[in-house]
Parts: sequence; C-alpha cells; structure tokens
Amino acid sequence: MTDLYAVEDHTQYRRRKTAEVVERCSKLDGPASRLTDDECGPDRIPKEVYTSRDWFDLEKEYLWPHVWQIACREHDIPEVGDYFEYEIVDETILIVRTGPATIKAYFNVCQHRGRKLKEGCGRAERLRCGYHGWCWDLEGNVVEILDPFDFRPETIRSVDLALKPVQVDTWGGFVFVNMDSDAPPLSEAIAPMPARVDRYLPERLRLKSWKRIVLPINWKVGVDAFHEGYHAFGTHPQLAGYMDDTRTGLYERWDNGMTLLGASNWLETMAMPSRRFGINPDPKDVLMTMLEDLINSGVLSGDDLALLDLVKDMEFPPGDEGLELIRSMFAGYRRTQMATLGVDVSEWPDSDVVAPEQFLLFPNTVGPLQLGTGLFFRFRPNGDDHRSCIFDYWDMQFYPLGEEPDVTVEDVADTSLESWGQLVYQDLVNLLAVGRGMRSRGFSGPRFGYQENNLKFYYRKLAEMLGWKGQPRVPAY
Ligand code: FES
Ligand SMILES: [Fe+2]
Repeated sequence: MTDLYAVEDHTQYRRRKTAEVVERCSKLDGPASRLTDDECGPDRIPKEVYTSRDWFDLEKEYLWPHVWQIACREHDIPEVGDYFEYEIVDETILIVRTGPATIKAYFNVCQHRGRKLKEGCGRAERLRCGYHGWCWDLEGNVVEILDPFDFRPETIRSVDLALKPVQVDTWGGFVFVNMDSDAPPLSEAIAPMPARVDRYLPERLRLKSWKRIVLPINWKVGVDAFHEGYHAFGTHPQLAGYMDDTRTGLYERWDNGMTLLGASNWLETMAMPSRRFGINPDPKDVLMTMLEDLINSGVLSGDDLALLDLVKDMEFPPGDEGLELIRSMFAGYRRTQMATLGVDVSEWPDSDVVAPEQFLLFPNTVGPLQLGTGLFFRFRPNGDDHRSCIFDYWDMQFYPLGEEPDVTVEDVADTSLESWGQLVYQDLVNLLAVGRGMRSRGFSGPRFGYQENNLKFYYRKLAEMLGWKGQPRVPAY
C-alpha cells in the first residue's frame, strides 16, 4: 500500500527547481538581496509571539509605524476629492486624491482639538471637521478657522495647522502608505516584486468581491495560514486530485522581507494528482475533478463555465500525453480570454499565461497573482486588540475596460462554508482552531520544517524590525 506521507524526494526537488528559478530570474531581481534556504531563521519560536500583549505592543511601536502597507486600491479613489480612511492599530490615515494623477495621505486628525477628521470614504472639495468646522484644502492647508481673532496668532499659524503628511506611493494599482518619513522608498521595500509580476498587469485587476470579517485570532495566525503550501494536503484534500502538492512550494526570499512562492513549475504540478497517491492518473478524471473544484471554489465562474461544455465530451490520450494536452488547453483558453480583453499574450510561453506568483507583501498581505486574476488575503490587528484581527479578502480579475463593476466591502458575519466557499472556509476552520489551541498550557510554540521556511524567515524579519530601535528581542527557543 502507498504510504501517503513518504514522498522523500520532494525537498530535493524543490531545492533543485528553486535554484533553477534563481538562476533564471537573478537579472530581473536587480539589487534586491536574496537569501538562501539556510539563512531563513529559527526553526522554533515561542508562542508568546502570537499570544502576548508585550509582543503586540512592540509591533505597535516598531512595526506598523515603519512599514509600507496597502491602504486601498487606486480605483477606490477615482475622482479628485475622493478620500479613503485606512485604520491600523490606533492610527487612522486619510488617503486623498488631490489630482488626476496625484494622491496624498495624512494622519486623519483635526489640528484643533484632535477630532478624527473624516470617517470611511467619500468625496469632498475640502476636508471640514465636524466639531468646530475648521477646514483644510485637499493639499492639507488650513483654509478656514471659525472666529480666528479669538486665538493668539501664534496658536494658529498655518504652517503648524497643516495636516500631518504620511508617505504614500502606488504599485500595481495598490495605494501604499508608510507613517515613517525616513522609511526607504516603496520600490526598495517591495523589490523584486514589480520586476517579476508587472507583466501580469496587476494595475488592471478590479474587485470582483471584497469580504471582511473580524476573527478572534492574533493577526499573524492568519498570515501564517496563507503563507506556506505545506498545509494543502491536510487542509484542502480536494486539491490533491489535480495539483501535486509534492511539487509545489518553490519559495524565494529577500532581505527586505519579500517572499515569492514561485509557480514556475506550474506546468508540472497542475493537472497532476499528488504523487503521494502513487497512481497513474486518467487524464479525463483529472480534468473533470479540476474543473469541478475550480467551479466550486469560485475560481472559474461566468464565461469560464463554457470551458466545461467544451471539454466534457472530449477524449484524451492516456498518461502524460493527455495531461500535457489539458495544460496546453488551459493556456490556450486563457490566451483567447485575454485577447477578448485586449491583452495580447499570443507570444507568451504557456507557463507565463497560466502560472500564478504567490507573494507576501511584508508584513500582512499574501496572495496569488497571475495574468487576469488576483486573490489577496490581508490580516491586520483589530484596533488595539492583540487577540483579534480584521481579515480582508480581495478577489480580483480583469474586466473589459469601462465595464468594471463598482464593488465595495461586504462585512461578513460568520465563517460558514456558504459565506466563504470551500477553499477559504477550510482555512478559516484552521485559523479559529489554532487561535484557540495555541493559548493552551499544553503548547509552547510552533516548529517549522523546510516547507515552512517562509515562516522561519517571516519571524526572523519581524524580530529584526522589533529590535530595530528598542532592545533587540529576537525570538529564540
Ligand atoms: S476639533 Fe476639529 S474643528 Fe474643533
Ligand atoms: Fe489554505
């Protein structure tokens, strides 16, 4: 009988393939400094990284005010005067479109008595405070003070009353902010991401669905769950019918905190059941399993369903030849789909047309991005609470230009299968159970293996940040 857990060579396989990717992409990566597998970080960390209030307070002081983080999409503020409030821990930041091609960000606070200036999102020619009516223009200059003669002139100098700026920049249609005016530029913080994935036109992605929920877990429990492929076999068993988990997980990491889970071997792993099964698959079975699951999990929908009609009566040659045919059919289908959207990828290799790059935008957004679609999972603390977090789920895709739907956030009340679909539901079940389990006296902290090198690296990087200005507090075990 096949032992499902004894596929011994996959680590060697990953090391070999990752080396090939590194070789091929090193020119693209520019000055980003890459880490080897052995430089990742600790195999064990104490559970207090997730559970202690002290650790959370360090993050509050040394992480969040100093990292570039996604605040919104550019299309959330399409017109001049549109604003969007981004909240992180105790801070509230207002992102404002000040011109057709310019965006600014300010700490969202009135300089009179400290009222939060704006709530949520909206459009305004001027930013007026709701308390005593003081008013700022979009550039952050104070333009109205009620009864200014009642104040000593030195109390209300314009230069002091300007809204306090926050660094803002954009990439791939995302608007990023950084509260630290001395922080290095965004381009440095996210290299080599743009070089790797700009060809997928991420700026064209538009929301198909945005769901949000507050979960009773530390925010990093959420990041962890979407940041390694090791859990696929145990958590998402349906994937094993058409995606070989022993051949995924070609991770690459950079010194600035970026991680890519490259899918450069997509054409070897998709339309291929897990090698743990040790079976010689029937191509038609694999294809139907794959389509059924992609439809169930919402990855394929709408026009994509035509694919099902196209293939259901087709015959496939047995063995590898049939599997190859399935993969090239998918690539062909995607090429046609892109052509109808005005994106010409006729010259691209199959792997580029269909393979996703999954990445971590340090510290809190993970997701697979490929040509035509993107799925992003963001976790941030729920205000000042170290035991709960806000999970944003952004499902995006290309639309014909001018036909993009106007999607806004949907606050979801429960973690049910109906609300989230099979794939995310399976992950949510784990998140809640980990959040509950790790508080037990019977658990001292996680242990990471080779396939969780991303997590080793993540916690090393985080510890570096937290020790940056205060006392170094590298989690050691
Ligand atoms: S607090 Fe804003 S105008 Fe007074
Ligand atoms: Fe998962």
